[in-house]
Amino acid sequence: MDGAAADRRPLTARTIAQQLLCRCETVEVELVETRPEHRRTVEAFLRDHNALRVARRSALVATLDHPSVSAWSGHELVGVATYVVDGDCCELLTLHAATRSTGIGSALLAAVTHIARDAGCTRLWVVTTNDNIEALRFYQRRGFRLTLIRPGAVDRSRAELKPEIPESGAFDIPLRDELELEMRLVQG
Ligand SMILES: CC(C)(COP(=O)(O)OP(=O)(O)OC[C@H]1O[C@@H](n2cnc3c(N)ncnc32)[C@H](O)[C@@H]1OP(=O)(O)O)[C@@H](O)C(=O)NCCC(=O)NCCS
Repeated sequence: MDGAAADRRPLTARTIAQQLLCRCETVEVELVETRPEHRRTVEAFLRDHNALRVARRSALVATLDHPSVSAWSGHELVGVATYVVDGDCCELLTLHAATRSTGIGSALLAAVTHIARDAGCTRLWVVTTNDNIEALRFYQRRGFRLTLIRPGAVDRSRAELKPEIPESGAFDIPLRDELELEMRLVQG
């Protein structure tokens, strides 16, 4: 199989692991498509990150209802990305790394990008919040562009959908608005 054909082959847990095994500092992290036997661990991880339910675009989404890629260091779950493929668009629903700045987030994003391309998607999009400076930097440095700002959308989600959303976020910035970013995916 030539390189281009290899790029297009369907992703399985094994191929994700082979392609995206990342050496985060000195620890080897393996990325796999989350399987049923991972569910309880992934559920606990998402709960710890207040990410079992995501409120965005005026809707509440249960993340466990959707596929995910999980990053493992041995038996320890060190990161999760959940996503939704819908026609030619893929939403990156959640992205969390247990340890920051060790490459886990980049590897998970690369895995979801690969899966989305493989599913025929031409657009990968994500919603973040006005306080999340780290995510804004992270996504823009990896090819995403800002497409939309929804002033007051987080305030409305807090009032109507998810009361546990805190009033202030990172750096004590009042948590109020949604920011939407997208990356165009070129089909190979
Ligand atoms: C956003 C998030 C997922 C990024 O994950 P991460 O694992 O920290 O991301 P990475 O480590 O791949 O990259 C972050 C930075 O660390 C740097 N880095 C990666 N490995 C490194 C290493 N071994 N040594 C030094 N720096 C390193 C990367 O270059 C990157 O910097 P850059 O953005 O300037 O290029 C993470 O911050 C997180 O979990 N945030 C909380 C949840 C959240 O806000 N998610 C997004 C919601 S939309």
